Amino acid sequence: MRQPDLKKKTVLHLAQKKAKGEKITAVTAYDFPTARIAAEAGVDIILVGDSLGMVLQGHKNTLKVTMDEMIYHTLMVARAEPQSLVVGDMPFQSFHVSIEKTMENACRFIKEGGAEAVKLEGGRKRFRVIEALLNAEIPVMGHLGLTPQSVHQIGGFKVQGKLREKAREIFADAMELEKLGVFAIVLESIPRELAKKISDTLSIPTIGIGAGPGCDGQVLVFPDLVGLTSMYLPKFVRKYADTNALWLQALREYIRDVQSGAFPNDQESYHLDKDIDEFLL
Ligand code: KIV
Repeated sequence: MRQPDLKKKTVLHLAQKKAKGEKITAVTAYDFPTARIAAEAGVDIILVGDSLGMVLQGHKNTLKVTMDEMIYHTLMVARAEPQSLVVGDMPFQSFHVSIEKTMENACRFIKEGGAEAVKLEGGRKRFRVIEALLNAEIPVMGHLGLTPQSVHQIGGFKVQGKLREKAREIFADAMELEKLGVFAIVLESIPRELAKKISDTLSIPTIGIGAGPGCDGQVLVFPDLVGLTSMYLPKFVRKYADTNALWLQALREYIRDVQSGAFPNDQESYHLDKDIDEFLL
């Protein structure tokens, strides 16, 4: 029987990191090569985020992403067999209709996609479905603050929790999510002071994106991090590389070499054996 991979990162590993005061790293990935690189770099969590609707598919928001698309991308990530924990992001409509439908979709992430946990957006309105998933032994990651699937209801991609009432609501939701049993919570685009208070109060890890340095970990969208996103980037994104420029340079050189005949050269070509060569001639 295949032995479990001892180095595999699990939800327990994340809890231990928080207990030891070690920061948790997370990044999105949507395909095999990116997952392989993310794992090789040593990230703790690979999130197959529905942000793929924007950064891969070119939509203005994440609402059009389907379950089938999410499973397709999760499978590619899982196939890289990363040591990072693989979390599948439940897309809009996959957990809003009924508990039965939510359960079916979450199970697809685990059974078909090969994810080890799911993430879903929202606070108090989602407690019942989250509880049902946890009862079915599916590890759940919460997501509070700016929840992009609520873009129409909140009137755009805006920082959340700047006013007292909303800040209190986010704080209370975080407390309740911990009580329900989620293993971590993404805090997106909220004031750093609020994120720190939540992180200091909870015993489960918080993973911030636009939530300041007081979170237990950070997540970034991979194409944003490596400079491949052409759209507007919020101020919390740090671009660690400008791969757009690298790709552009590579492609321009390729075009130049094809046009000039410099590519392919002799070493990049196959040869006939000498006798056949003579025969052909
Ligand atoms: O979809 C996504 O990539 C996300 C992260 C931004 C947390 O939800």
